[in-house]
Amino acid sequence: MSGHPVVSWKEAGETRSARWRSEGGAPPPRRVVIADDRMTADAAYRLACEGTAMLWRGDFQNARQLLQALARRTDRKPGKPASSPAEAFNLHRQAQSQRARTLGMLLLPFEGDHGVPLRRAPDVRQACAEAYGPGDGPYVASLRELLGLIGAHEWRRKGIEIPALGGRIHPHYGVFSPVRGEYVGLVAGAPLPASSQPLALAFDIGTGTGVLAAVLARRGVGRIVATDQDPRALACARENLARLGLAGQVEVVQADLFPAGRAPLVVCNPPWIPARPSSPIEHAIYDPESRMLRGFLSGLAAHLEPGGEGWLVLSDFAEHLGLRTRAELLAAIAAAGLKVVDRMEVRPHHPRASDAADPLHAARVAELTSLWRLAVG
Ligand SMILES: C[S@@+](CC[C@H](N)C(=O)[O-])C[C@H]1O[C@@H](n2cnc3c(N)ncnc32)[C@H](O)[C@@H]1O
Repeated sequence: MSGHPVVSWKEAGETRSARWRSEGGAPPPRRVVIADDRMTADAAYRLACEGTAMLWRGDFQNARQLLQALARRTDRKPGKPASSPAEAFNLHRQAQSQRARTLGMLLLPFEGDHGVPLRRAPDVRQACAEAYGPGDGPYVASLRELLGLIGAHEWRRKGIEIPALGGRIHPHYGVFSPVRGEYVGLVAGAPLPASSQPLALAFDIGTGTGVLAAVLARRGVGRIVATDQDPRALACARENLARLGLAGQVEVVQADLFPAGRAPLVVCNPPWIPARPSSPIEHAIYDPESRMLRGFLSGLAAHLEPGGEGWLVLSDFAEHLGLRTRAELLAAIAAAGLKVVDRMEVRPHHPRASDAADPLHAARVAELTSLWRLAVG
């Protein structure tokens, strides 16, 4: 257990402790009480709001219902009004992390093989092993986190149909999922650089599930080198490419941004929002200080063959939130010695586009995703 965070509680007159797991990056709760089916939703909500966690010893399905009751109580709180889109975004993130903290107070015990020793508990061993790795001792984690792992396991099992591939992509836990796949269509439809047809080589920077590398391979690019830094993404991309029969065409390598050498086409879909991730699994969504975007732009010219193109996939959501301006993006492109050859756009489909109560509604309905075709200029 050494080296891992530990959570402690009093039970049957003695102090007990176990390893604490939180992929969401939550610290172990300091106060933990034992709770079971007799706990009312109001009492549980009061404890959760005070920061007291409840280690569940009752029926698993009752714990699920209790969590739903806590969520209803949390969602009843009115949000603070915001004076600007950037403030609305910050308040929205604060409210989300407060919600996550409150709902993360309902804890479950796990056995060494990831089994949950509670009445009517489902078999979650596979879902947990996919996110946590092989079981190596008992631990405690929140029910909310477990439900996230179960959801991720289902996505991984079923996969997501990608029309441009004529196949499915199976995202792993914590890996950026092409579930809103309009951007994939942009990469499938953009004209390949005319300088060297057929295209012998392309780089896919930050490959995630491997989806864009797979699309390029299906489009006939001879060889693709796909990079990522996240071990989960690397494993996920390798598995997807093998499943699609493209492992011989795509090499997946661990690298910070670019692999060595130059290619006639370099594709990158960096995280779209310049903000600090609040947990490790948010690294594919939030790019602090636009590190990946700026790194891609400033390194691109040195990795393009003469006449080659860089394809930057980026939504303007951050611009609508006031977190980045178009002028800043254009200045970064110019400062990297690049010119814009063309820009292709698609309007993403948002499940919440008609939800006017969503604090980010205006930014969501205005959002456009672009593929910027860049060349040395
Ligand atoms: C928004 S996701 C895009 C994933 C995939 N290309 C797609 O379009 O679905 C960004 C990816 O970049 C990876 N990444 C972030 N920083 C990186 C870096 N410095 N070098 C390589 N990959 C990085 C993340 O791990 C993540 O998988």
